[in-house]
Amino acid sequence: MSDIEYLKKYYEGNIDDALKMLDEGIPVQYIVGNVDFYGYNFLVNKNVLIPRFETEELVDRTIKYVQKYFDGSVRIVDLGCGSGCISITLSKELGVSVDAVDISLDALEVARENCIKNNASVKFYLGNMLEPLHDEYDVIISNPPYISYDEEIDEIVKKNEPSLALYADNDGLYFYEEILKNCKRCLNDKFLIAFEIGYTQGERIKEFAFKYLGDVSVSVEKDLSNRDRFVFIFSDK
Ligand SMILES: C[S@@+](CC[C@H](N)C(=O)[O-])C[C@H]1O[C@@H](n2cnc3c(N)ncnc32)[C@H](O)[C@@H]1O
Repeated sequence: MSDIEYLKKYYEGNIDDALKMLDEGIPVQYIVGNVDFYGYNFLVNKNVLIPRFETEELVDRTIKYVQKYFDGSVRIVDLGCGSGCISITLSKELGVSVDAVDISLDALEVARENCIKNNASVKFYLGNMLEPLHDEYDVIISNPPYISYDEEIDEIVKKNEPSLALYADNDGLYFYEEILKNCKRCLNDKFLIAFEIGYTQGERIKEFAFKYLGDVSVSVEKDLSNRDRFVFIFSDK
């Protein structure tokens, strides 16, 4: 569907105003103000990343791994929750309460609204990745900022989506290393870590996993465009 068709289908205000915003380079999802993700509808505005198809795939694979490897009430935390699309979908699909962290108060406001709108059970924390957490989890899931500061990205993304959601130091690897270095205190012995990644980052993240977590299994998996896009780290001790 083209952007104009999308607006005509979903925009509820004056279509001329919407077309003007589109002309000014605003993403259709921000103009419409909501987006579908994994069969649920999420409010979005300039304070949150627009949920991506790849992230639906991350959620889908995580659900399948959770159903295969864990039974009962699995404890999950979503780091860098943005709109809440990951945590809210996991809460709904797995029927569990999920914890979620973001450093942006504005993003958390959107996530809270989305939680109510979708009647999910998510507890939100404001803070830096693992820092506000005092529990132990079975699953850590994260789609952290992973774009390197010198990488060329689409103008529409650069101009409109929050830079806090996009960029990270160390060639975009900063948050993966921070999470893997510090996550042990927040994990049960048997655990799954699920990451969305930049397509060149798989091998480096695998090295971090072995360096900081020792004897784990690591699976780097491809998206529908056949590019490395997900890392799953398992421990079954
Ligand atoms: C790539 S976006 C992902 C948002 C959402 N999970 C999704 O998949 O659509 C990364 C999120 O991480 C948050 N973030 C950035 N730095 C952070 C930090 N130090 N601690 C917690 N969250 C952070 C951003 O505010 C943003 O919401």
